[in-house]
This record gives sequence, structure tokens and C-alpha cells, in this order.
Amino acid sequence: MNIQPSTSKTILLTGGLGFIGSHTAVELIAKGYEVVIADNLSNTRIEVLDAIHRVSGVKPAYENVDLSDKATTKVLCAKYNFDGCIHFAAYKAVGESVESPLKYYDNNLSSLVYLLQNFTEQGKSNFIFSSSCTVYGQADEMPITESAPIKPAESPYGNTKQIGEEIILDTVKSTQNFRAIALRYFNPIGAHESAELGELPLGVPMNLVPFITQTAIGIREELKVFGNDYNTPDGTAIRDYIHVVDLAKAHVVALTRLLEKKNQSNYEVFNLGTGKGSSVLEAINAFEKVSGEKLAWKFAPRRDGDVVQAYADTTKANHDLGWKTELTIEDAMRDAWKWERKLAGKGL
Ligand code: WQD
Repeated sequence: MNIQPSTSKTILLTGGLGFIGSHTAVELIAKGYEVVIADNLSNTRIEVLDAIHRVSGVKPAYENVDLSDKATTKVLCAKYNFDGCIHFAAYKAVGESVESPLKYYDNNLSSLVYLLQNFTEQGKSNFIFSSSCTVYGQADEMPITESAPIKPAESPYGNTKQIGEEIILDTVKSTQNFRAIALRYFNPIGAHESAELGELPLGVPMNLVPFITQTAIGIREELKVFGNDYNTPDGTAIRDYIHVVDLAKAHVVALTRLLEKKNQSNYEVFNLGTGKGSSVLEAINAFEKVSGEKLAWKFAPRRDGDVVQAYADTTKANHDLGWKTELTIEDAMRDAWKWERKLAGKGL
């Protein structure tokens, strides 16, 4: 039988069983991409692979590999003929990075370097890097554009994102035909509408929305609102909360842009946000509105390292990528709450 060569593209998703990675896997499969997930399960569960299968109808190839091991990464990149890579795999707990900086520099930067070495040595391209608005620190002007100054990182985690972008830029400059895009996420929240995929914080959640839903479901006693004396309309800090499904779709658009060589330069950066800032109190109100739950919370002192406000100027992503968010903070709260109740039902 003459097996037609696959015309679909094979994409490496590192950290593809994580929160954003798993949602991106579903969106890539829906667009006909072959997905290979590399994940060492350090911050997720293998059950997510079956969930991707249930949602997308396809069980992606899965490799349980530690990408910070040079030999392992070399074997992985030789096993498949990757047409592109979306590199999610990284440690991302800001507080933990302050306590264990070398763990973060080793893991987050070694994995990036080894992936880039293999891709460039094999003449491969189309590399998407999971970056973060954290690179801006407390930006001077709102909304934040991609040309806002990169401030000294507030944490080793944030520094690994800044250094990661620099490593990729230097690689692009020194390697012909190597094209990359860095996506600077604002605050990803929510879950898949099927309640099959969502945020899986292992331990006490650092982030606002999983703490809200765990408080509402009874896992946590009450939410502490960190600071009510900021120079904002209601005194609480402001963020740009973007639905994880909108964020996942942006990755497919960015990857396709590179595969179709529509990039305007070989290294591009895009802010991914809604362009709208919401305070902590507004986020709580949005949750209460869509869930019908009354949330137990109280004011507490400010959290070290928090910026007062950060929300995206989305002009470049809207115009150059042709992508914009379609879902609201209420949609995200609705989906996050449905996911939390599903987890409670599963006893996860
Ligand atoms: C949001 C707001 C808190 C918890 C972090 C990382 C960033 C990115 C997203 C990885 C802040 C307040 C929170 C709580 C609260 N991660 N809050 N009580 O800090 O904006 O961004 O996650 O890429 O790099 O820095 O997100 O969800 O932790 O906080 O009042 O129990 O909610 O003070 O104002 P953050 P967050």
C-alpha cells in the first residue's frame, strides 16, 4: 500500500501536559497538526494526556523526557522530524525561584539551549517561546506595548524569561533561516469549556483564580486580597486576565505564521492579553456573578514582588498576528469554576 507522506506538520510541544500546553495541543490538533508532547510530569499529571484525547479525539505522541538533560533532548530531536516547536516547559513559581534560583536557571535555560542546539544543528526552525509580561516589571505606562523597556527582573523566574528571549535573539542573529516568536503572556486563567482541561495547581495555589475557585469549593478557608492601598480606582492591583483558550489559539496563529514564512522579521515578540485591566476586586465580583457563590475573602498586606498594574497593548498582536481575544473574564471564571467542581467530583 502506498502510504502517502503526511502533509500535516509535526510540532513538538514541550510542557504540553501543562495548563497552557494542553489547551494548545487541543487547538493544534483541531487545525490538523501532528502533536508530539514532551513533558517530565514535574508539574502536571499523566491523566491530562487522556483528557486531550477525549477533547480532541486524538491521543498525541507522548515522551516522558527531562529536556534539561542534553543527551535526552538530542535523542528526542533525532527521533522525530519536527517542523516546529512550542516551548512551554519551564518552572514558573515566582516565589520558589527566589528560594531556589539555580534550580530555575538550570532547568529553564538548559532545556532552552539544548532545544535550540538541536533545532539549529538540524536546520530546523519555527520556534515559539513561552514568555511572560513579567519581563516588563512595573511598566511606566499602561497599556504595555512590546517596546516598553525590559526592567531588571523581580525574580529569577522572570530573569529566565528575559535571558531566554536574549538567547533566542542571539540564535536568530547567528543562524540563517532560523525563525522564532516570543509570546509574552499576561495572566492566563480559566479552563476548557468541556471541563476536561484546566489549571492543576499542585499544592497551595499561588495564582489568584485557582485560589478563588478552591476557596469557593471549600478547599481553602478564605482568599487573602494582597493589598488594598495601591494607587488604583479600588485600591487593589490590576492585571490583564486572558482566557487560556484564547491564549492557546494565539499559539496556533503564531506557529502558522512561521510555517508559512509570513513573519516580518526572524525574531518577533507579541503581547498576549485582552487589553483590559481588571482589579482583584473586579475579578472576585466576576467570579461571584457567574458562579452565584459568595466568596469568603479579606484584605491582607501587599505581596512582595507584585506590580501595581499590568495590562497589554494588544495592537501588535491584533494587527500583525490577526488575533484577538474572544472570551471575557466572566467566561474564564465560569469555566474555571466548572473545572474546579469537576475536580472535586473526581476527588483530584
Ligand atoms: C494576580 C493578582 C496578586 C493570589 C504571576 C506571575 C506571572 C505569570 C502569571 C507565569 C495580584 C493577587 C493573588 C492571592 C491575591 N506566571 N492575588 N491573592 O502575580 O500577576 O503573575 O502569574 O508566567 O509571571 O508573576 O498573578 O494570579 O499570582 O496574582 O490578592 O491569593 O492577584 O496580588 O495582584 P501575577 P497572580
